[in-house]
Amino acid sequence: MNYFMKSINIILYQLIFLVLAVKTIAQPSLKEEFKNNFMIGTALSNHQICEKDSLLIQLVEEQFNSITPENLLKWERIHPEEGVYNFEPADSFVAFGLRNKMFIVGHTLLWHQQTPAWVFEDEKGNEASRELLLGRLKDHIYTVVGRYKGKINGWDVVNEAIEDNGEMRNSKWLKIIGEDYIEKAFQFAHEADPDVELYYNDFNMWHKGKIKSVSNLVNNIKSKGIKISGVGLQGHWGLTYPSNEEIDEALDTYSKLNVNLMITELDMAVLPLPNNNTSAEITKNYELQKKLNPYPNGLPDSMQVKLANRYEDFFRLFNKYKSEITRVTFWGVNDSYSWKNNWPIKGRTSYPLLFDRNNQPKPAFYSVINTVKE
Ligand code: GLA
Repeated sequence: MNYFMKSINIILYQLIFLVLAVKTIAQPSLKEEFKNNFMIGTALSNHQICEKDSLLIQLVEEQFNSITPENLLKWERIHPEEGVYNFEPADSFVAFGLRNKMFIVGHTLLWHQQTPAWVFEDEKGNEASRELLLGRLKDHIYTVVGRYKGKINGWDVVNEAIEDNGEMRNSKWLKIIGEDYIEKAFQFAHEADPDVELYYNDFNMWHKGKIKSVSNLVNNIKSKGIKISGVGLQGHWGLTYPSNEEIDEALDTYSKLNVNLMITELDMAVLPLPNNNTSAEITKNYELQKKLNPYPNGLPDSMQVKLANRYEDFFRLFNKYKSEITRVTFWGVNDSYSWKNNWPIKGRTSYPLLFDRNNQPKPAFYSVINTVKE
């Protein structure tokens, strides 16, 4: 190589180094910025865990210190048939978290959705008895929690058991076992791994009826000497709901329960709702109409600003409760993989997260970071 080529090479290397350095300085990391407040988590899908999208994985490693699996630990995925467990995807997910020293969340042990029909039936196809269902619940929890004992740090033990008005959800769990199914699930999980954290997780946690019933539930479980470590507020929220006051009030009440609080499943609906239903009830899906998919080619600047301001308001509130909030988990890494592209209407182009479809931070990312510098 002649002298000229050598110099060009050195200059090239210096340039690459400079670009990398500027990138590191210019793009802060959520987990670093919030390290004195709470952990910052994300949900990972099966596809992402296979690590084929290396840029996305790099982003996960740079930005987040906690992970939750979007689907692979749900009953229908990990335990599709009686006696048949599919551990492979979950093993890879846990290995990824351990390799990156992340706080690993298990989601979820008991839910009325994504649970196969056989769970609630006897061998003749009739409704299972209380004993049979309780036995299956215990076997499932002992097996799954037991396998990841000492590796998974916290479990969403029960998901979405209470209606917005505060009544208990009329699920097969309630119908067959009775009201004590919730405490039984917590008890089994504690027996399977005495050190793991155990949570109750739900959407619309700002509805007055729900605030009251979830608070009673936590106190009731505690009064029986059963372990419950925290409450997860699914943050499937929108530009206009809930109001800041509603989130504040909910956090204020839950913060008096003496358990950890977590914002789980955070994302923001920027597209019009087909009706005024703000729940995350996954069975509800509506027909695609053009007016309900207004930004197929990109989010206009004016909407980016609205999204950024709303996220900023959320994080100001979360920072206010940083003594109780231990983790804020986004439901997805970037906009392209979000479930919001297909719910509550299939096939829309949605923009609910802090990173765009090219893994680039959106204005909302910087407004969130700004709250911690205030
Ligand atoms: C609920 C569940 C999640 C997920 C979302 C939709 O919030 O808790 O596991 O299924 O719905 O992605």
